[in-house]
Amino acid sequence: MTEFIKALPKTELHIHIEGSLEPGMMFELAKKNKIEIPYKTVEEVKAAYEFSNLQDFLDIYYAGAKVLITQEDFYDLTWAYILKCREDNIVHTEIFFDPQTHTERGIAFETVILGIKKALDNAQKEFDISSKIIMCFLRHLSQESAIETYEESLPFHEYIDGVGLDSSELNNPPSKFQDVFKRAKEDGLRLVAHAGEEADVSYIYEALDILEVERIDHGVQAIHSNELMQRLKEEQIPLTVCPHSNVSLKVFSSMEKHNLKTMLGEGILVTINSDDPAYFNGYLNDNFYSIYQSLNLSKKEILQLVRNSFEASFMSNSQKESYFKELDAIDLN
Ligand code: HPA
Ligand code: ZN
Repeated sequence: MTEFIKALPKTELHIHIEGSLEPGMMFELAKKNKIEIPYKTVEEVKAAYEFSNLQDFLDIYYAGAKVLITQEDFYDLTWAYILKCREDNIVHTEIFFDPQTHTERGIAFETVILGIKKALDNAQKEFDISSKIIMCFLRHLSQESAIETYEESLPFHEYIDGVGLDSSELNNPPSKFQDVFKRAKEDGLRLVAHAGEEADVSYIYEALDILEVERIDHGVQAIHSNELMQRLKEEQIPLTVCPHSNVSLKVFSSMEKHNLKTMLGEGILVTINSDDPAYFNGYLNDNFYSIYQSLNLSKKEILQLVRNSFEASFMSNSQKESYFKELDAIDLN
């Protein structure tokens, strides 16, 4: 089965590029840029990656991101992820970045976006890996800060495909960001938001009805509302589910308890993603291997999950069709 998973062409739709910062690179960059980090060895960093909830993780994740200073650092970070895409046979990726994590430390918006964009352009050229860039607003900050960030992003809009919403979910509902999402929509950007990772279904409803997003990131709490499940199914609203992340952050007590197989069985457009692979013990294929083992998925179910990601992606219909043809030709025996 691992060979079957590995060989499938895949799309990733929920990956925070700052979450692909491996401890080794964190150390190198800390040394080069003379930034203090609270660890002495790579082993010490890894030992710190024991989380009891989302906030626990975010505190460590934002501290780690402080080593990223120059355009070259953002290039190297993104390029290292692209090499993982190549290993995992990811042919299309839609990456999140968090501009405020960097601009709040005095790093220019331009430094961040140009480093990421150059690496993604190179991925297209060298490996034929296509991509989209989604700029996320940090929901623990104010809407005013999000609007300021949006305005800083305007000179780079040809590089930005969509906006998203991430960081501390509880007590920061989607409705807090209604104006900035409305503006992004008017400007023709695609819309997504993290919702229903830790918080209840009202956050998913707000993301859909107030922000008018096209995909829900995580969304696993939807299972607690029959009415919402019915809607997700009928409207085929994609959920970008991140199994390793959910278990690491104790959204589920074990992989065996994850609800993705149930949701898939109910006809929800579930996709599989790595979220923050350097922090959650693995990249996209690792997530597939884990769910296959713990939830006893069939080849047909794995293929459906892979197909769903292409369906839910922001790639063109003609690009989708050509991948569907490739997937349709796969032998399930
Ligand atoms: N949830 C919210 N914010 C995040 C996450 C997540 O899973 N990963 C990185 N920022
Ligand atoms: Zn996420």
